[in-house]
Amino acid sequence: MLEKTRSESLPVELKYWPVKRYMDVYRKSLDDIEDFWEQEARKLEWFRTWDKVLEWDPPFAKWFPGGLINAAYLCVDRHLKTWRRNKVAMYWEGEGGEEKTLSYSQLYREVNRLACALQKIGVRDGDRIALYLPMIPELPIAMLASARIGAIHTVVFSGFSSMALADRINDTEAKVLITADGGYRRGKTIPLKEIADQALEHTPSIEKVIVVKRTGQQVKMKEGRDLWYHEIVEDAKEDVAPLPVESTHPLYILYTSGTTGKPKGIVHSTGGYLVFINSIYQWVFDIKEDSVYWCTADVGWVTGHSSIVYAPLMHGASIVVYEGAPDYPRPDRWWEIIEKYKVTIFYTSPTAIRMFMRYGEEWPKKHDLSSLTILGSVGEPINPEAWLWYFKHIGGERCPIVDTWWQTETGGIMISPAPGIGLVPLKPGSATFPLPGIDADVVDENGNPLPPGVRGYLVIKKPWPGMLMTLYKDPERYKQTYWSRFPGVYYTGDYCMKDEDGYFWLLGRADEVLKVAGHRLGTMELESAVISHPAVAEAAVIGKPHEIKGEGIVVFAILRQGYAPSEKLKEELREFMRKTIGPVATPDEIYFVSKLPKTRSGKIMRRVLRAVVSGMPVGDFASAAAKLIGLGFQGSITPETIA
Ligand code: WT7
Repeated sequence: MLEKTRSESLPVELKYWPVKRYMDVYRKSLDDIEDFWEQEARKLEWFRTWDKVLEWDPPFAKWFPGGLINAAYLCVDRHLKTWRRNKVAMYWEGEGGEEKTLSYSQLYREVNRLACALQKIGVRDGDRIALYLPMIPELPIAMLASARIGAIHTVVFSGFSSMALADRINDTEAKVLITADGGYRRGKTIPLKEIADQALEHTPSIEKVIVVKRTGQQVKMKEGRDLWYHEIVEDAKEDVAPLPVESTHPLYILYTSGTTGKPKGIVHSTGGYLVFINSIYQWVFDIKEDSVYWCTADVGWVTGHSSIVYAPLMHGASIVVYEGAPDYPRPDRWWEIIEKYKVTIFYTSPTAIRMFMRYGEEWPKKHDLSSLTILGSVGEPINPEAWLWYFKHIGGERCPIVDTWWQTETGGIMISPAPGIGLVPLKPGSATFPLPGIDADVVDENGNPLPPGVRGYLVIKKPWPGMLMTLYKDPERYKQTYWSRFPGVYYTGDYCMKDEDGYFWLLGRADEVLKVAGHRLGTMELESAVISHPAVAEAAVIGKPHEIKGEGIVVFAILRQGYAPSEKLKEELREFMRKTIGPVATPDEIYFVSKLPKTRSGKIMRRVLRAVVSGMPVGDFASAAAKLIGLGFQGSITPETIA
């Protein structure tokens, strides 16, 4: 049914489908999700067909068990049999303006050489490989090389600190680390190898370190452990057969923040994950082999895994990978890149859009952006003002905006307009409807569905192929975090509200998780970092609305005896947070206090602190209503309608 109706909405102009028609397609997909996803699975090439579509032992799902598949084969090899072998797989642009273009056959060669080198140093099926790399071609290549031989990659965002890197390596017990001498950011170099060396003092599992020469800066190479990337791939033989792995074999582990101090290792499968993202990128972005697809996220986040590497390459599109800062050396760097590579699909975050709004529309105006057909937004709620600016000044009032809601855990997009199936009328600030096969709903404290206009919790009622399989080495926490609040359904941790027309409005996190510039940080994780500073006895961290970043970090700290509050100490704490977690964790405001509001049992009442910093009454209503109004919600908002 999807197949049949698709063509009517192509090519994408602003031609809308009635909501009812979309809902018919959607409801039909839910009648029999196994049958539905089985049809989708047939769109991929498997080495062996699955025995079963789904083995559901709640809350553990095995999608397509018995099926054999390989991610690198689907992203690379498959294209070599077609005209795509000599088309561009990747346009890479360095911050300093260098360019590199890889065709699918060149990508094939690079992936094979590294896969071969990895095998030579002893990497086997199921081994974990940590990747700590800047946005250079070697990062996607390393992911694909890992997948090719059945290894499991864990990408650590290159903006993370040595401690964050060490924690992730230790949790996965990675055998190999691939890093670079350095990376470029705003014309300066970041000493990645040096940061990695600090981590490597505490990571006994690492046997080999592979170093990409990117900046050419001086680095220490440890005899017997450290190898230069260019040297090991030089004499690697080219052909390594892709290893067919079981559908449930983990493709990667990616860490994300939760409500405790310890990040969670999200484990994604190979078969289910690939089937899911293959379908949704077609529905949401209408992606095709002639698309030039640019997702501006860092590969270090799930957005980068699904939207830069796996989905667009499976579709045989050309991806754009840009190494540097968005506004470097000038605020039109991104618009210049769109014009230069004739980008057709552009996917970014509300924070970036708000930043560019500040710079003004004269910057995009300098460039021909007429190649664009679809614009995407992800990571946090988008305010209508930013939506409209994006629509007008980037999309030329021609391109639909797909506001895509998803999470590291979901593997891919769950709620979003779907121009590749049929575009429903858009409402700035709403992610519109769940995608086919996704049984999403909004429920109250007791798990009962809520009527329109009432804020509640977003849940997913049926398993989907892209869902996380578990938390690495912690199935108990997986059950607890996602499946215990409302038994039998997946708890997202997000507030949501449906309006009279059934549109979904995402209203931010319902738990102690912040979204700072779209990056996910746990308040507990931030607090434990603050407390590890010798001057701090106790601390509380909350989020505060921020004009550009969506949310900013506010720290309340009680100092130890012998330490006095000062601007210098604030600066030191700020620097300390950058060092401990990474620059994304830099606090916006720091307050030294002598007491923190607590419950009788000693739990910090962050709600009270939030109300204090935002100057709002302590009750939840005012802030919820403000958020709704800010999002452009057009229904009646009364204390009764906000649970
Ligand atoms: C959280 C997940 C996977 C995308 C990158 C972030 C928030 C994400 C939206 C959106 C409103 C959004 C949610 C979600 N979020 N997209 N379109 N509208 N909120 O992945 O770091 O795992 O964060 O990001 O709060 O739970 P993540």
